[in-house]
Amino acid sequence: MRRFWIDTDTASDDAVAILMALRWPGVRVEGISVISGNVPVEMAGKNARYTVELCEAETPVYLGMPAPLLRKPSYAYFFHGPDGMGGMNYPEPERPFAAGHAVDALTRAIRELSGELELVTLGPLTNLAAAFRLAPDLPKKIRQCTIMGGAAATLGNITPAAEFNIWVDPEAASIVFHSGMPILMVGWENCRGEANLDEADRDLVRSFGTKYADFTLDCNATATQTNQEWLGDPGLALPDPVTMAVALDPEVCTRRSSHFVDVETQSELTRGMTVVDELGVLKQPPNAEVCWSIDPARWKEALYKVLR
Ligand code: RIB
Ligand code: CA
Repeated sequence: MRRFWIDTDTASDDAVAILMALRWPGVRVEGISVISGNVPVEMAGKNARYTVELCEAETPVYLGMPAPLLRKPSYAYFFHGPDGMGGMNYPEPERPFAAGHAVDALTRAIRELSGELELVTLGPLTNLAAAFRLAPDLPKKIRQCTIMGGAAATLGNITPAAEFNIWVDPEAASIVFHSGMPILMVGWENCRGEANLDEADRDLVRSFGTKYADFTLDCNATATQTNQEWLGDPGLALPDPVTMAVALDPEVCTRRSSHFVDVETQSELTRGMTVVDELGVLKQPPNAEVCWSIDPARWKEALYKVLR
């Protein structure tokens, strides 16, 4: 049984990624920690708890940091809708948040499952950075961390230079990327083009006729529209589910290599840029693996498998 922990700023694409992990055979999600990002942390927690209950799971959801380490929160209502879930206004979940702060719960889980716990981060890295500052023993006890974040030697999605998760809390990202934890970075560039769900893909999902398929399409309706308007990208981009697919089925990533990666925290123009030293010119030891390409068909099959 693989043991997972998901850190998430739960909005519409995060919710589908959570659903994938909860419904994936051979994986047990030990806990979900929520963070401020797409939406305020309490809203992210409501969306995560709703998703857990939709999947008839008992996974504890812990409330995490309410803001980036230094910066003001920056929400993405424009992309995900006023509730983060495409305006679906889902009912209040039955179960409350699990007791205790997310950083303490994550710390406990990493220590109790030392060498076994696989992290998947789907939002800004504030919770992880706080945990690592409180407990420097943690990074080496983590089996693997698959990060949805960054843009490897390419343009960003929230600024020309940076991807949203890293841009929201660049200081936290810098702490995490230099923590020594085993990282696989899945940049947003892997979640465009053929990786998007085009109209035929979305019709196929709807044809499954399950509550999981309807949930996926319904809560991502706003994102589908905004993706076109904001980025000019047709179809439904699902960065967190793509990243979760890579974590669940590593062969979804077709090209990966280790490099020194650093995060811009000083410049406003390039705040949150993930600078990947692809050629090794900085002569720094690698601190992350970078996913350079994915298999779109294999990623979509991983999604369909849990929605049918
Ligand atoms: O840039 C895409 C990422 O930012 C995704 O994780 C999305 O949910 C938002 O958090
Ligand atoms: Ca997210």
